[in-house]
Amino acid sequence: MTNKVCILGAGSTKYGKLEEGIIEIALNASASAIESAGISPNQIQAGYISNVFGVADKQVHMAPVIMSNLGLSHVPGLTIESACGSGSIMFREAFANVSAGFYDCLLAVGVEKVTHTGTAQSTTLFSYCSDFFYEGGNGASFPGLFASIARYYMSKFQADETDLASVAVKNHENGVLNPKAHMRKKITIEDVLKSPVVASPLKLYDCCPFSDGASAVILCSEEFAKNSGRPYVEVIGSGRGASPASVQGREDIATIPSTVMAAKQAYKMAGISPSDIDFAEVHDCFTIAEIIDVEDLGFFPKGKAAKAIRDGATSLSGEIPINPSGGLKSKGHPIGATGIGQVVEVFDQFTGKSGQRTVKDAKIALTHNFGATGASAAVHIFKKVE
Ligand SMILES: CC(C)(COP(=O)(O)OP(=O)(O)OC[C@H]1O[C@@H](n2cnc3c(N)ncnc32)[C@H](O)[C@@H]1OP(=O)(O)O)[C@@H](O)C(=O)NCCC(=O)NCCS
Repeated sequence: MTNKVCILGAGSTKYGKLEEGIIEIALNASASAIESAGISPNQIQAGYISNVFGVADKQVHMAPVIMSNLGLSHVPGLTIESACGSGSIMFREAFANVSAGFYDCLLAVGVEKVTHTGTAQSTTLFSYCSDFFYEGGNGASFPGLFASIARYYMSKFQADETDLASVAVKNHENGVLNPKAHMRKKITIEDVLKSPVVASPLKLYDCCPFSDGASAVILCSEEFAKNSGRPYVEVIGSGRGASPASVQGREDIATIPSTVMAAKQAYKMAGISPSDIDFAEVHDCFTIAEIIDVEDLGFFPKGKAAKAIRDGATSLSGEIPINPSGGLKSKGHPIGATGIGQVVEVFDQFTGKSGQRTVKDAKIALTHNFGATGASAAVHIFKKVE
């Protein structure tokens, strides 16, 4: 059986350095998604949780703990980990279960808390998400790996550091309009170029920050959504892809094979092409990633995105707005929550809750989120229901 799947409610905590413990953060986002859907918690038939480093806040096996704290200890929960792509990979499993008719209504919540460990420890923890034998174990952190990708892309397509900086400036501009964003600060190209080098050519403002935070959505069948009488959004496409786990295992590092594979599946399921997308939330863990993403998703030909972004094509009023939420760069990147946070942005955009960052006349949106340097990825496509 394949049934239509809808999003009936969505909520996020603020992203940033949070004082609360990991379970409280997850519960806060869950409560706001439940309230936004206008349902009683008793209507939830399953819980899907995405998280990577619960161990850093002394909690793994998180799903039963979250469900119990919601007063739903009899409701089965499942925790899913896929590095920085955990949220979207988990969302796809939740989507598949509603589509298959196993559940009419479920809670999907992503959460992460790492900032209390500090930059050095967080960098070590995150390196466990790489192919540790070849990468993290030899000192290749994620900034280092994406710096190699950036160097390759820049020499192959004659892009430069100002092109990278244009992504950061645009995403910070959007993030200023998002009250939940971690880095709400307008920056200039010069600020980016003058910021401290992290792993050349990437500088401080080319990198996403370490963030805490949680995001949650309520997924349900179309019948459940219609019966609620409340606004909802339909999920019309879903795809999942894979790449060789280590960067050195790839033939061409100016593309991420998992993104291409996931996008192809999602477009096919939705019966649309990239030109039908009105805006997208993409995985900009580093500025170079956004440039590669928007090419792999089919919005720009290979090698052409850098110039298009610099010319404003991806700004809020551009031809294809990218990351209206501020993206990972400005909204923040609590890795277990990020993929669900993108869905929250789509829900807010389509239900009139995105204020000044609303993309005008948008009806179809795409979310894209990957794990590590793209070893895993998922793409989803959503339709506004009017
Ligand atoms: C970029 C990075 C090295 C900065 O770490 P840091 O030097 O320890 O930074 P701090 O936390 O000490 O913050 C220093 C200042 O920079 C700001 N800052 C930190 N990270 C920032 C970022 N990514 N973008 C913009 N500003 C940032 C802080 O707010 C702080 O500003 P303040 O002095 O005005 O308060 C770190 O955020 C990082 O490694 N990010 C990448 C995370 C990652 O790999 N994620 C997985 C992706 S696949």
